[in-house]
Amino acid sequence: MISDLKGRSLVEPEDFSLDEMESLFSLSENIEKDEKYLRESCRGKLIAALFFEPSTRTRLSFEAAMLRLGGSCLGFADPGSSSASKGESLADTIRMASSYADTIVMRNPKEGAALLASRYSSVPVINAGDGGHHHPTQTLTDLLTIRRLYGKIEDLTIGFCGDLKFGRTVHSLAKALSRYKNIRMIFISPSELVLPDYIKSNLKKQNVNYCENTNLEKSMPELDILYMTRVQKERFFNEDDYIRLKDTYVLNADKIAAGREKLIVLHPLPRVNEISVEIDNDPRAAYFKQAKYGMYVRMALLASILGVV
Ligand code: CP
Repeated sequence: MISDLKGRSLVEPEDFSLDEMESLFSLSENIEKDEKYLRESCRGKLIAALFFEPSTRTRLSFEAAMLRLGGSCLGFADPGSSSASKGESLADTIRMASSYADTIVMRNPKEGAALLASRYSSVPVINAGDGGHHHPTQTLTDLLTIRRLYGKIEDLTIGFCGDLKFGRTVHSLAKALSRYKNIRMIFISPSELVLPDYIKSNLKKQNVNYCENTNLEKSMPELDILYMTRVQKERFFNEDDYIRLKDTYVLNADKIAAGREKLIVLHPLPRVNEISVEIDNDPRAAYFKQAKYGMYVRMALLASILGVV
């Protein structure tokens, strides 16, 4: 039930039940169909968008979502302009922001920062990415895209390709998909960038059918969905390792030619070199559509958490 989301935080992808996610997706589709739906419903409400790490899509789509709902936004996109740069703790920053706004949206480079924030906040906290850990609103975006383009979230084979070690969107999506029926996962990465053990343990516990390999070409014909990811330069300790690994996988016209007609290619974006621009107009390239769905699902999420639906 959507009404049950009022006042709730979203820190990890499993914080909401499957029924609650389904309600969010239906609401997102209604918003997409009717531009006027829920317009002005959040008038007088405020979100604080606290971005301690760079962002284009997540920050702008949250701000666009809130403005389209008639609400307002405050916050910062550069922690250097906040008192964090003078040494203020995250706990104190959150205490302050939660006394000014009705909901906090936060991205932070430290794993676990969103959970900590939710403990010090008097208003709901939405995790917009905590280090290499989770990114649950990207997961809502990804699941909505799959639901819109396949009409279902079950009986699908998904290949995750690239930096599966640091890619928080992969961690969140794999965890979330493990709750749906008959989802097969193929994890394609160099050996240095394999999926963390704690995510694999979770998949095993859920009896998910998954395998790992290093070969994108070999897996391509089996996939319903290819989820490409960027090698996360900002999380490497050693630049030489980044340079060696960054172009391990590049999806181009030759490689996508081996894919099914119904394949969809997703990417949380930003991309660097891992998807060649030559396939942007291929009907299977769905990553820009996916980013737009992110705004609708964030509208649905804010309206639900703020209790206006
Ligand atoms: N997908 C995503 O999180 O993009 P940004 O880093 O631009 O927010």
